[in-house]
Amino acid sequence: MEKEFILIMPSIKDRIDWLEYYKEFKKVNPDSNPLDYRLGQDYEQWLSEKEDESKGLNLQEGRVPSSVYLLKIKGNDRILGHVSIRHSIDNEFLEKVGGHIGYGIRPSERGKGYAKILLNLALTFCKELGIENVMITCKKNNIPSAKCIKSNGGILRDEINYKGEDFNRYDFKLD
Ligand SMILES: CC(C)(COP(=O)(O)OP(=O)(O)OC[C@H]1O[C@@H](n2cnc3c(N)ncnc32)[C@H](O)[C@@H]1OP(=O)(O)O)[C@@H](O)C(=O)NCCC(=O)NCCS
Repeated sequence: MEKEFILIMPSIKDRIDWLEYYKEFKKVNPDSNPLDYRLGQDYEQWLSEKEDESKGLNLQEGRVPSSVYLLKIKGNDRILGHVSIRHSIDNEFLEKVGGHIGYGIRPSERGKGYAKILLNLALTFCKELGIENVMITCKKNNIPSAKCIKSNGGILRDEINYKGEDFNRYDFKLD
């Protein structure tokens, strides 16, 4: 039977696998901070912060409403990837390099085409949120991410240097 991939909001039952996922991710990508979780942070408190953020409640300064999801295969609880979808990019950082979508795949699950699938599902969610022009950026040297963006229809808008690093900005027109 074909595997069905889903994006699903993190919940209480993901706690143990999320902590393993997070540690595995940070080991390989120490500079990234999946879904803004901080090591040692109370999981339930983090869940509640994320839930609030998705509703635009109690936003900290500089934050915009955003929704976070985990990539899974339907019927299997293992976390394969994560994505954050910002409902707008109405601030300087997001407009420059943050973009609407931030994502990652569990290191032990990379190279299987999962990022392409995740991005495809995330774009569908953007459409449901009514975002017509989705902007995604990636570091110029991030070849897998660039391939994944282009194969999902991303059109290179420009290159931008932010704090000494080169980024490519891509646009997706959703109709
Ligand atoms: C970038 C990332 C999401 C890619 O995830 P992935 O599941 O391994 O990607 P996929 O398997 O869907 O592959 C996407 C494309 O990249 C290619 N690719 C995968 N790993 C690659 C590598 N190490 N070198 C070159 N190309 C690679 C794949 O062959 C595929 O290309 P294709 O369209 O020609 O088939 C993952 O490496 C990651 O989580 N990185 C850290 C966080 C990050 O960079 N996020 C993106 C921010 S913009």
